Amino acid sequence: MSDKAARVIAIDGPSASGKSTVTRMTAQKLGCLYVDSGSFYRGITWKALRDGLDTADAEQVIALINRMEMTSHIQDKSVMFSIDNEEPGDQIRSQPVQEHVSDIAAVPEVRAFVVSMLRDTARFGSVAMEGRDIGTVVFPDTPYKYYLDADPEERARRRFSELADDSGYQNVEAVYASLKRRDRKDTTRTAAPLQIALGAKVIDSTAMTAEEVVDIILADIHRLEGTAA
Ligand code: CDP
Repeated sequence: MSDKAARVIAIDGPSASGKSTVTRMTAQKLGCLYVDSGSFYRGITWKALRDGLDTADAEQVIALINRMEMTSHIQDKSVMFSIDNEEPGDQIRSQPVQEHVSDIAAVPEVRAFVVSMLRDTARFGSVAMEGRDIGTVVFPDTPYKYYLDADPEERARRRFSELADDSGYQNVEAVYASLKRRDRKDTTRTAAPLQIALGAKVIDSTAMTAEEVVDIILADIHRLEGTAA
């Protein structure tokens, strides 16, 4: 399938529901850019922790986003960013970032800042973007909206198997507890809680491979565009 018209593919869902793999594969199949919106929230969290800020203090976090410079660029068909000329790399997956990111993502000013950066990525062309509020807030008008879910136990197993040895998590149970904490914060927060977007296709990936999920998404895009798969 060629990348004829600019499209935004919005893929939302809870932690470790398979979004990253599926979104990357979808982007590759469509020849469009991959955007991991969570990495932006993680990047700001990484910067806040490195600057020794109290991530639960919204004032400190707002002052940080006002003084730092965050810019995006393309690398290997993905939209990446730097903060004050530094790229955080894998550090955004560390346990401290993991444990504090939901606090930071709940601050409305942080969300407004990230949402505007995410919308701006569409200037690069078609994008496949994964997150929590892509279909509800960032690109509510896109016709291509998907909501991935999976049982919490399966999500914890998936996340544990992909974590680096030095991630700080000792076992699946610790990952499960962390995911549940984040799910709770992400679904109950006032600002853009995780919700199924109006018109989104819900896909339960518990017993599916990533390829199977991607096939469903691609078939749906073809159906919406009236073209054969
Ligand atoms: O990889 P995982 O799904 O565990 O998390 P992520 O997508 O990297 O997102 C990390 C955190 O950022 C989430 O737990 C949310 O608190 C927040 N987030 C958000 O609020 N809105 C988004 N569009 C993406 C992430």
